[in-house]
Amino acid sequence: MKRYIVGNLKMNPVSSHDAERYVGSLLAEMSGKRFGETEIVVAPPLVYLDRFASVETGGVALAAQDVFWEDEGPYTGQISPKMLRDVGARYVIVGHSERRTYAHETDSEVGAKVRAALREHIRPIVCVGETAEERDEGLEGDVLGRQVTAALRDVGPTEAERVIVAYEPRWAIGTDRIPDSDAVLEARAVIRRALSFVLGAAVAERIPILYGGSVQASSIGQVCIGPGMDGVLVGRESLHPHALVTMAAMVEGA
Ligand code: PGA
Repeated sequence: MKRYIVGNLKMNPVSSHDAERYVGSLLAEMSGKRFGETEIVVAPPLVYLDRFASVETGGVALAAQDVFWEDEGPYTGQISPKMLRDVGARYVIVGHSERRTYAHETDSEVGAKVRAALREHIRPIVCVGETAEERDEGLEGDVLGRQVTAALRDVGPTEAERVIVAYEPRWAIGTDRIPDSDAVLEARAVIRRALSFVLGAAVAERIPILYGGSVQASSIGQVCIGPGMDGVLVGRESLHPHALVTMAAMVEGA
């Protein structure tokens, strides 16, 4: 199965000038390199998607960090999947824990966004993960099962094959704390079971499952390569194009 290194730049860079600098340095890092089995995807802030379009020439795919579920109309501040497609996004992150926290996004809204992205042939990267409290109470299996089921319940089997799931324990995001390989392996099994339940075993087997939360080149062995994940979703470290490309080479060579 193909692997994915997804850089979520979040609310960075903070100017067009910095956006262009980032693109220039990512293209320089990718110069002369192509990864046959590993796709690098970068998700800049929406206002800079246009400025990031040239990363495609370096073999890097573009993603958005969010999408709305309607195609057009009176939805102030929202961006539709049609618009994202028009500006070149091929992937979109959906249900990131920061969206669930700051925009109070619910499981059913995440499901609507997944279906909207698929309608426009944009691949959704669906984020799921438990909080520290849920983990302490032993509820991570329930939480992951509920989030996966809600996100994919009404997706047909053909469309489902374009979905990517990212396991992002919320306590590991932005904290420099990471789970051990066994915990990642266990979460992957729970997610795979939930995918099988909603989509059937054959389709579930083909859906890539990534790990996200404080990933660095030095920890990618523990959270991705060791437990056999299909790639990583990277926050802070993705602000360094060199780190993204290094991680892609490590995953490609594993
Ligand atoms: P982080 O963010 O790598 O900075 O922990 C990960 C994420 O939010 O996906």
